[in-house]
Amino acid sequence: MIKTSRFLGHSAGAFRLARAIVKAAPTSASVLIIGESGTGKEVVARAIHDRSSRRKQPFVAVNCGAISPSLAESELFGHEKGSFTGAVTSTEGCFGRAHMGTLFLDEITEMPLSVQVQLLRVLENGSYFSVGGTEQKKVNVRIIAATNRDPKAAVQAHTFRSDLLYRLAVFPVRVPALRERKSDIPYLAQRFLNELNEQEGTKKVFAPDALFQLESYHWPGNIRELKNTVTRAFILADDEVEIPQLSANVQPRLPDVKHGLLKISVGTPLDSAQRAVIMATLDYYGGDKRRTAMALGISPKTLYNRLEEFRKQGYMFKVA
Ligand SMILES: Nc1ncnc2c1ncn2[C@@H]1O[C@H](COP(=O)(O)OP(=O)(O)OP(=O)(O)O)[C@@H](O)[C@H]1O
Ligand SMILES: [Mg+2]
Repeated sequence: MIKTSRFLGHSAGAFRLARAIVKAAPTSASVLIIGESGTGKEVVARAIHDRSSRRKQPFVAVNCGAISPSLAESELFGHEKGSFTGAVTSTEGCFGRAHMGTLFLDEITEMPLSVQVQLLRVLENGSYFSVGGTEQKKVNVRIIAATNRDPKAAVQAHTFRSDLLYRLAVFPVRVPALRERKSDIPYLAQRFLNELNEQEGTKKVFAPDALFQLESYHWPGNIRELKNTVTRAFILADDEVEIPQLSANVQPRLPDVKHGLLKISVGTPLDSAQRAVIMATLDYYGGDKRRTAMALGISPKTLYNRLEEFRKQGYMFKVA
């Protein structure tokens, strides 16, 4: 396994990101990190903590999507012994554990709404009560939140409070997808290979077309997927690390859809435009082919034929 969790990169996008980390780190401003899955949001959050004056204090990470609303209060603020059935000992909660350090609220837009209210309150007051507690606890934490969703869209969908968004997004940081910083692909791949060689005491090298294969893929799983691909290829290799043609190399980027609008550049070949409209509509209707066909004004049979053609050409669909 590759252990590196340091922030690496040498593309213009990575430099911009590194600059944002350096600027944000010494302040106590809340940071909101936005980026697709696997782009390195947690790496960025840790880099900010490690460069801040809190670096010797705790970094506590909480996955907000995994907190159940009924236990959320206790999870965040702790509880006193006997405050509810099952509370056999008192616990501290994430805020208590992160005191003087950094609290990383991952997947913030997935936090239950009732908990968002409580979170906002503690962010505004700098103090809280534990469940069953009578004593107000003062807390000093630096908040870094992250999401792989568009937070404004989550506000519009009423799943994320706008006041919490504004409170958290004092310093928003966007982590670009790997396909938007292509020159990082060979760079990171080589760094990952170097690390594996060092760990295993080997001297494996990339096969001549390996970096080309890596660069021509669109990496929907971003750096995590790149890391796993290099590791897998390394394990399979004797001396030369070969990258097999990645199955979706021929796959186009997913259509660029936002708020039900599809963005297509002027000059897009008609068959690509048609494919994008069909895929985006199918996705919009959650894979329902009958509704998709109706919306597109074609018969279900025509839609099936088109999808079959796309499949034969090597395009894959998120839907069955
Ligand atoms: N800039 C980077 N340099 C080196 N490794 C990186 C970098 N960014 C990400 N990684 C590695 O890629 C993997 C995914 O990173 P991370 O967990 O931070 O992503 P994430 O955006 O939080 O993903 P998710 O949304 O799925 O939680 C990790 O193994 C991490 O070490
Ligand atoms: Mg993460």
